[in-house]
Amino acid sequence: MDVEKLLRALDGLHLGPVRYFPCIGSTNEEAARWAEAGAPDLSLVVADEQTSGRGRMGRRWYTLAGAGLAFSLVMHPERTHLQDSKNYLTILSNDSSLMRLTALGAVATSEALKQAYGLSADIKWPNDLLVQRRKIAGVLAEASWQGDTLKAVILGIGVNITHKSIPPGTRLNFPATCLEDFLGKPVEQVELISSILSSLLGWRKRLNTPDFILNWQDKLAFKGEWVKVIYPDNTAQVGIVQGLSPEGFLRLQLNHEETINIKGGDLHLRQLKQEQP
Ligand code: BTN
Repeated sequence: MDVEKLLRALDGLHLGPVRYFPCIGSTNEEAARWAEAGAPDLSLVVADEQTSGRGRMGRRWYTLAGAGLAFSLVMHPERTHLQDSKNYLTILSNDSSLMRLTALGAVATSEALKQAYGLSADIKWPNDLLVQRRKIAGVLAEASWQGDTLKAVILGIGVNITHKSIPPGTRLNFPATCLEDFLGKPVEQVELISSILSSLLGWRKRLNTPDFILNWQDKLAFKGEWVKVIYPDNTAQVGIVQGLSPEGFLRLQLNHEETINIKGGDLHLRQLKQEQP
């Protein structure tokens, strides 16, 4: 990545300081270390290659040099517009805050792909971006605590750009794709990251508004389709995706009488082939 160009492109966005690494373990890990050491709000870690990139649920995320985009943003809770009128910690103290920030990354990435390349990417709740049902990007929000105090939230985003970014089939938990396969032309990492960040900063100010939830819901994958939700303890729930609750939980219709909200962050969605409940 051309670092001078990166810094120039990010200049007008009013981010915090930027750290660029040609190769690093994980940008989320580095951003968390930096947050602990006092990184200001909107500090950014960007890497060209990650050797131990992290995904949700302990999965790995592969970033080969020049093949994708990998970055993490440090966000201070008090600046992150998650607060309700009474107390912002009511939201930050439960899982829905991390989910909302995950959604912020997903909504911003989807919007950037549309605006910069005309590509429609759906959000497989809560964190995967799918183009034609194949994963093109992923988002990982992690909390960085100091004792009982939430120091920062680290929002990491990874996008597959070239074909090299698609991991070998055996490691996949969902079919993957990359930007260049769809566009048929090279994609500039710097253009992509500045589009995503610019959209992200705009939505961050409206994170706690119905408008944000509506926009997220608009992009939701599998609406009206049968899916299977698999919980971390391996129990499963089958239902039709209805949309989102006002808090951003997934609304799943189980049968004619019953619709539930799925709240947990650690679950999978699988599209069913022929299955009916
Ligand atoms: C997922 O799909 O499970 C989430 C993937 C998130 C990957 C990004 S790449 C930049 C940042 N650093 C990491 O170690 N992970 C995130």
